[in-house]
Amino acid sequence: MTMHARDTDIERAVDLLRAGRLVAFPTETVYGLGANARDAEAVAKIFAAKGRPSDHPLIVHIASAQALPRWSSYVPEAAQKLAAAFWPGPLAMVLRRAEGVPDAVTGGLDTVALRVPRHPVALALLRAFDGGLAAPSANRYGRVSPTRAMHVREELGDRVDLVLEGGACDVGIESTIVDLSGDEPVLLRPGAVTVEMLERVLGQRVRHAGENATPAPGRKPSHYAPRAKVLLASDAEAVSLARCFHAGGARVGLLSTKAPMEAGIDWLGLPQDADAQARELYQRLRDADALGLDIVVAVVPPLREGISEALQDRLRRAAGLGDGAPDASDLHA
Ligand code: TXA
Ligand code: MG
Repeated sequence: MTMHARDTDIERAVDLLRAGRLVAFPTETVYGLGANARDAEAVAKIFAAKGRPSDHPLIVHIASAQALPRWSSYVPEAAQKLAAAFWPGPLAMVLRRAEGVPDAVTGGLDTVALRVPRHPVALALLRAFDGGLAAPSANRYGRVSPTRAMHVREELGDRVDLVLEGGACDVGIESTIVDLSGDEPVLLRPGAVTVEMLERVLGQRVRHAGENATPAPGRKPSHYAPRAKVLLASDAEAVSLARCFHAGGARVGLLSTKAPMEAGIDWLGLPQDADAQARELYQRLRDADALGLDIVVAVVPPLREGISEALQDRLRRAAGLGDGAPDASDLHA
């Protein structure tokens, strides 16, 4: 059992955040790299620590929906409904920003993404801090999101002033993002809160964003990628594909629910259940790098209800594919 951060750790975290420093904290999706969202200089440190282009907008984490009017100039009824249904939880909403929300947070957009996470350590931190925390996933830019405190320490080292411990993340992949700033709700990123769940609460269709619709870096096809090359395959063809690359001299791993009966191919095992697969996916991709694999052949899980759309989305991105044709900006990324 991993111990969660204690009250004294939370106090230290709050002191650091008030002093404009960076604190990584657990959420139920992935670990976030947090800074005071009202402090543009502190937010700038996030981009430096991640090596992320500074025009990319960040999600502001808040303690409850009651704080929404401090961050958004217009909170539509749809946002109230979704907050009531899914917060605290793995859903971020894009709303019109309030005056005074720094450009450093929004990337200069007139909207801001907001989320109330449900991890107890994140909630304790947000309540004690009594403000908003801008926090992207606590990984270096373009790499796999951290789902354990250890991943953050390994990847960011002393670029982060404190890492709060919160065990392994429950969901394991990033939050659903829905844009409510326009005339109709638009899904920007699939996650554990599915389109069907959103539509049921809203009583309205939720459109999927087109590949070129947002500047969101999480939407770039090259995101969530390990160092190893990831190739997607069907269950039927995966082992023979892995065998082929192995025969050609590559170090090959198979990401699948079934162990390969082949010598020389590393098995990156996934559980059967889609929620458990989401929880373990990023750890397996990290394992691939730790094993020094050149190639990961990944069996794409079937599209079912629930988190499987998000799971397929992250696998495609790990493979350098988007949910359509790569957009032009990725040719220069
Ligand atoms: O699960 C999560 O959301 C995690 C944890 C830490 O909460 N955070 C996370 O942050 O995934 P990040 O920065 O890695 O991804 C945030 C995504 C990016 O794709 C960003 O472009 C998008 O949210 N985003 C933020 N503000 C936006 C805005 N105003 N309009 C459109 N997209 C926005
Ligand atoms: Mg990220």
